[in-house]
Amino acid sequence: MNALVSSFLFLFFLFSSNLCQFVISINQNDTNDDLKTYIIQVAPPKNAHLDQNELRKWYRSFLPNNSEEFARSRIIYDYDTALTGFAVRLTPKELKEVEKKEGFLGAYPDSAYHLDSPNIGEGN
Ligand SMILES: *[C@@H]1O[C@H](CO)[C@@H](O)[C@H](O)[C@H]1NC(C)=O
Ligand SMILES: *[C@@H]1O[C@H](CO)[C@@H](O)[C@H](O)[C@H]1NC(C)=O
Repeated sequence: MNALVSSFLFLFFLFSSNLCQFVISINQNDTNDDLKTYIIQVAPPKNAHLDQNELRKWYRSFLPNNSEEFARSRIIYDYDTALTGFAVRLTPKELKEVEKKEGFLGAYPDSAYHLDSPNIGEGN
């Protein structure tokens, strides 16, 4: 009984450590400049009567690079009804910078744009 449990645990840890290595190696490759699409959810701006231009500016303030060209080439969609947020292509490193900004609520990988990538490793 005990032997069964410990061999189960052994296999479990063997499996999960292999899994971890797999995930880590995927993430390491991710730190290269490969872009993923994220839906970035942010807190609504304090001034509730921002027009669309101002809302867009609020969204741009979350980006790691404040050049207009960067925003143009990366932002895919600005949301203004269902949620406050936008869809943008970022490297994992750039995403980390976005996450630090005040008003940031969440980032959701948009798998629709990456049907070929495995879901594993996108846990956070
Ligand atoms: C990471 O990239 C290297 C070089 O491009 C490749 O050989 C390796 O298979 C990749 N690893 C994973 C887990 O995709
Ligand atoms: C910001 O983005 C622009 C346009 O993509 C690029 O030319 C510039 O080097 C970037 N700046 C930084 C600090 O990454």
